[in-house]
Amino acid sequence: MLKNKNIIVALTGSIAAYKAAELVRLIKKSEAEVRIIMTDAAKEFITPITMQALSGNPIHSNLLDMEAEAAMGHIELAKWADAIVVSPCSANTLAKISQGLGSDLLTAVILASEAKVFLAPAMNQQMWNAQITQENVVRASSLGHKILGPGEGEQACGDIGSGRMLEPEEIFAALEAFSLSLLEGKKVLITAGPTQEPIDPVRYLSNHSSGKMGYALAEAAEAAGASVTLVSGPVNLRASSSIEVIDVVTAKDMFAEVKRSIEAADIFIGCAAVADYSPVNTHSQKIKKNLNENLLLELEPNPDILKFVSENYSNKTIIGFSAETENVEDFAREKLVAKNLDFIVANDVSRNDIAFNAAENEVLIISKDKTKALAKASKILVAHQILNYIHQDSLLH
Ligand SMILES: Cc1cc2nc3c(=O)[nH]c(=O)nc-3n(C[C@H](O)[C@H](O)[C@H](O)COP(=O)(O)O)c2cc1C
Repeated sequence: MLKNKNIIVALTGSIAAYKAAELVRLIKKSEAEVRIIMTDAAKEFITPITMQALSGNPIHSNLLDMEAEAAMGHIELAKWADAIVVSPCSANTLAKISQGLGSDLLTAVILASEAKVFLAPAMNQQMWNAQITQENVVRASSLGHKILGPGEGEQACGDIGSGRMLEPEEIFAALEAFSLSLLEGKKVLITAGPTQEPIDPVRYLSNHSSGKMGYALAEAAEAAGASVTLVSGPVNLRASSSIEVIDVVTAKDMFAEVKRSIEAADIFIGCAAVADYSPVNTHSQKIKKNLNENLLLELEPNPDILKFVSENYSNKTIIGFSAETENVEDFAREKLVAKNLDFIVANDVSRNDIAFNAAENEVLIISKDKTKALAKASKILVAHQILNYIHQDSLLH
């Protein structure tokens, strides 16, 4: 809940501006106060009267307006806010914020405010992937602003790629996590992605894990106030700059990094799809093709990271993930018991619409005496729900 919080929702000139209407509705429903800032361009995409009616307050738009300054001027607005969410955030406004401009009301308020700033970029994939935009994202993130998304998929212009604004529910979940600060002061260690087990300098054994669920958990935990370390296998994702990312390749590397970081952690989330086996011998040169005989690979078991953590650190909250293709709940519960975990999150990786590489997930959270089913939703929403549930279960040590 955002009860009694003061939230500025700022809209910029993007086709996704209509989604801000739903975001404002969600924030109002949670009994927060909302003020709206609209850039001039935003007003071309959704009418100020709509946003005024939804927020129940006059729209703020002009910086150099005597009347506006005489009422709630930019400094008052800046002081009033607990959080500022720029949704949608255009490439133009992102560039201004990251460079410290204050050339319109929105950027001047952000400069003058101590409120937490959330930026939900929305733009064509080419604009998003432009080197300068990516540099601006890194800069804005290093200033402490939280970048929410963007998502990927089909865009208004017909392109497919990254740049879609997150859905209002996903942005609201991040605001709520920040407001509740459920994990304030906690240290969370998360593993994510696949591991790669080299056969020779060219080939490796791996799996289909994209790392999206682990990265979503890292973002959700960070939004909830935790300090997060993410030990990540090879993936194509980038975490917020406030998250410490340790890149690894093999299961043995991941194990070594977990052993190095686990002592300081309060909560361990083993979300990586760690390879169970690795080749006994890694060839130093590429194995030459010989079609006249079979190639036999001898594999040895990798260290069981989750088991190591639960056997040696039972004072910590330990959450495992279980990827199953059949008997999902039974197999996951067996793993929970065998590894003495506090929770196991089970997903069905035989489905194409969820789990491996998909944007969405549908999971069961299993603890010793109960099972909680979470409905299919984006991985970031599922991540927030997992952390909220675990907190509510008040099992955090
Ligand atoms: C139809 C249309 C759609 C647009 N959609 C976006 C968008 O989704 N993201 C974006 O960064 N810019 C978009 N633009 C360009 C911005 O509106 C433009 O850069 C504007 O200067 C942004 O101003 P602001 O950041 O002050 O709101 C769009 C422009 C048009 C004409």
